[in-house]
Amino acid sequence: MLINRPRGTNDILPGDVERWHLIEQTAREVCRRFNVAEVRTPIFEHTELFARGVGETTDIVEKEMYTFQDRGERSLTLRPEGTASVVRSFVESKLYAQPQPTKLYYMGPMFRYERPQSGRYRQFHQFGAEVLGVNDPSIDAEVIALAMTFFTELGLTDISLEINSVGSAQSRTAYRDILREHLSPVKEQLCKDCQSRYDRNPMRILDCKNETCKELTQGAPEMLDHLSEEDRTHFQAVCSYLESFGIPFTVNPRMVRGLDYYTQTAFEFIENGSTLSGGGRYNGLVEQLGGPEMPGIGFAVGIERVMIALANQNVELPIAKGIDIFFVALGEAAQKHSVKLLHEMRRAGLIADKDYLGKSMKAQMKAADRLKARQVVILGDDELAQGVANLKDMETGEQTTVALSELIEVVQSKR
Ligand code: HAM
Repeated sequence: MLINRPRGTNDILPGDVERWHLIEQTAREVCRRFNVAEVRTPIFEHTELFARGVGETTDIVEKEMYTFQDRGERSLTLRPEGTASVVRSFVESKLYAQPQPTKLYYMGPMFRYERPQSGRYRQFHQFGAEVLGVNDPSIDAEVIALAMTFFTELGLTDISLEINSVGSAQSRTAYRDILREHLSPVKEQLCKDCQSRYDRNPMRILDCKNETCKELTQGAPEMLDHLSEEDRTHFQAVCSYLESFGIPFTVNPRMVRGLDYYTQTAFEFIENGSTLSGGGRYNGLVEQLGGPEMPGIGFAVGIERVMIALANQNVELPIAKGIDIFFVALGEAAQKHSVKLLHEMRRAGLIADKDYLGKSMKAQMKAADRLKARQVVILGDDELAQGVANLKDMETGEQTTVALSELIEVVQSKR
């Protein structure tokens, strides 16, 4: 019986994996420029971390977590996102005691039990960055600029940036009451999800995709009109920094991110209707996870969605193709000797391969073509006896006879 991969997961096969490498490499290079260091945290954490960090009333915690009991009867969860883990690690390793800010990035698989569709998987991959310890609005703009630089370096265009301020915890409490009051006459007409959001997290109603809810919330009071003086000043400063960077954006006063930890700045990058990346400030999270009072801001990009955007925009990534040298060996002695030569070539830094099935000369040349070999060594028993081999340049078709003792040097010089 065939065993298939679990629903909502993907195999990343050769042919695709090279593009993944390039995306990951771009992320690393851009982070290096912004002086952001990598952090690697566990793939699973105590369930409590996400319940407390991401928020009990979020879709992630309520419906989407891969939670299991280990053999010691601890409740563990495959990480649905990276921020809670990074902050946990920041607190646990006492990084807050060092001079701030702490700038960290991460890459890797995340897990959410969602209904799979194009761009939405149960195991997906994020590249994210978090900057802890600084509240200055220039950091908000820098974090946004980091994500934007990553997209432009990959060759993506037509990405829109939407930003909003969801206010500080205090201003939000007051705004929630105003919003509830406004929505109370239509509460019963809202969708089931929104009816339960009404009490627990009414701001999420503004973000509901249900057409009736969209209609019913038209004209609802907006958070931006209920910000504290401090929140407003912060938001305006973020916007003017972005303008000074030449990063276009639109203010979307209805954007409510799906995670509970956000305060003040919230943003999303959208391509062709799909959210490539989301992020924002989370000034209470460090404290909530047992650390000192310290601000933080970050974002995460969905790598699978970046792949889709690259395909939508016909971006050809500059992937190095082919191998340096392919061995065509004919005859038993030549076959044997080519194994040793192949090993020496690889030790010398060449990308080298050979045929292992004793195929005909024609079939071996075909294999060399398929692998996009730049050069081919043709070695027969006679050549071996004379201490030479024929070297063919696959681009020009030119063939030369080379002494075996000089083969590596010659191949290297023609690379
Ligand atoms: P998020 O909006 O939940 O935020 O996810 C960020 C990105 O991950 C999304 O924009 C999307 O590209 C990708 N993503 C999310 N779920 C899936 C899925 N099921 N399949 C494929 N891609 C998906 C966060 O995770 C926050 N931790 C971001 C953040 C960092 N905020 C502050 N710091």
